[in-house]
Amino acid sequence: MKKLALSLTAVAFSISAATTHAGEVEVLHWWTSGGEAASINVLKGLMEEEGHTWKDFAVAGGAGESAMTVLKSRAISGNPPASAQIKGPTIQEWGDLGFLTNLDDVAKKGDWDVVLPQVVSNTMKHEGHYVAAPVNVHRVNWLWANPEVFRKSGASIPTTWKQFITEADKIKAAGFTPLAHGGQAWQDATLFEAIALEKGAKFYNSAFIGLSDTTLRSEDMIDVFRTFKKVRGYVDSGFSGRDWNIATSMVINGDAAMQIMGDWAKGEFTAAGKKAGIDYVCYPAPGTSEMFTFNIDSLAMFKVKGEDNQKAQQDLARLILEPEFQETFNLNKGSIPARLNMSREKFDTCAHSSMDSFLASSSTGNLLPSMAHGMAASSMVQGAIYDVVTNYFNDESMTPEVAVDKLARAVKASM
Ligand code: GAL
Repeated sequence: MKKLALSLTAVAFSISAATTHAGEVEVLHWWTSGGEAASINVLKGLMEEEGHTWKDFAVAGGAGESAMTVLKSRAISGNPPASAQIKGPTIQEWGDLGFLTNLDDVAKKGDWDVVLPQVVSNTMKHEGHYVAAPVNVHRVNWLWANPEVFRKSGASIPTTWKQFITEADKIKAAGFTPLAHGGQAWQDATLFEAIALEKGAKFYNSAFIGLSDTTLRSEDMIDVFRTFKKVRGYVDSGFSGRDWNIATSMVINGDAAMQIMGDWAKGEFTAAGKKAGIDYVCYPAPGTSEMFTFNIDSLAMFKVKGEDNQKAQQDLARLILEPEFQETFNLNKGSIPARLNMSREKFDTCAHSSMDSFLASSSTGNLLPSMAHGMAASSMVQGAIYDVVTNYFNDESMTPEVAVDKLARAVKASM
C-alpha cells in the first residue's frame, strides 16, 4: 500500500513537473533530404532532452517555396506554428504583419549581439528586436565535383564560366553528364546567380539589391543570360523537375561531373559517407573565388498562447545559439556555424574554406546576400526574377535581349 502511495506521488510529481515546465513547439521547415533531416533532428533531440514536445511540420520542396505557401495559409487561418524556417527580408515581412514574438531576453542572456557577426544579427532583428534565431551560414556559390569523373574525362576544374564550357565538352565526350541539375525555378535561379556573380560585386549589388533598371538591361546582363543558356546545353535530358538532392546523388554516383549548389549539397555527401577532398571536391563556382553569396537559415518565432509553450519556444531559441547545437547541426548540414569563434577542429576542408572566405569577403565588400535564396530582395521581387529566369532557361527561342527586357519589366512591376 505504502509502495503504491509512493509511486502515485512520483507520478503526480512528474505530471506536475511536466505541466509546469514542458511545452510544445510546432516547427515548420522543408528539411527532408538525408542531410537536412539529420540536421533538424539534432534540434528535435535537444528539445526533447529538455522535456518539451517537438511537433514536426515538414513540407517537402527545396528552398521552401511550398513550405512558405503552407505557412501563409496557416497564418491566415489564425493558427501559425510556434516556429518556422524563414529567412532574410521575409523575416521583416512577417514582423511588419505583427506575427513574430520578441526574443530579446534570450538574446541578452546568450550575448547574441556579441557572438554573432553583424550581418547575421541584423537579419534576425525586426525594428531592433530579435525575432528569429540563426542556425547557420550557407555559402551558395559552390561547385561540387566528382574527381574520378574529371580524371576519366581528362578535364580540369573550371575557374571561369568560359572554361566551364571547354571542360564540359571534354566530360560530355567521355560519356558523362557534365552538370547535374534539377529543373526547378529556385535551382535555375541558383545557377543563374552564380553566373551573374562572375561579373563582380558591383554588378551583383546593383542588379539584385539596387534593382537598377540600367544594370538589369546592361550588356553584362545580356552576357549572363547568354552563358546561362550555353550551360543549359550540358545538363542531361531528365533534368526537368528533378529535386536538388537527386542531382547531388548523380555526382556522388559518378554519373555527373559537377553540380552548382549551396553547401547543403555537402550534407548529402556527408549523409552518404563521402569525404571531402577524397570522394568529392568543392571549389568556388567558376569566376567567383573572391566572393561569398550567403544564405542564413533561421527559425523565426511566432506569437503563441500558453506559458508552457512560450517557455518551450524561448528554450528553442536559446538552444539554437548554443555551441553544441551550432557544431552538430552544421557538421550535418554542410554549412558553417552562425556563431563566431567556434572550434574548427571537427569541420572539413570545405567548411574551413567557407569560414575563411566568409571572413575575407566581409572586409572586401564581396560578402553578398543570395538572391536565389531569399536574402537579397523581397519575396515579390525574388518571385519575379525566378519566373523570367526559369522561362528563359526552358525556352529555346527566347533571346538574351528579350530576356533582359522581361527581367527589367518584371522587377519594376514587383517593386
Ligand atoms: C535553402 C535552404 C537550405 C537548403 C536548401 C534546399 O533555401 O536555405 O537550408 O536546405 O534550401 O532545400
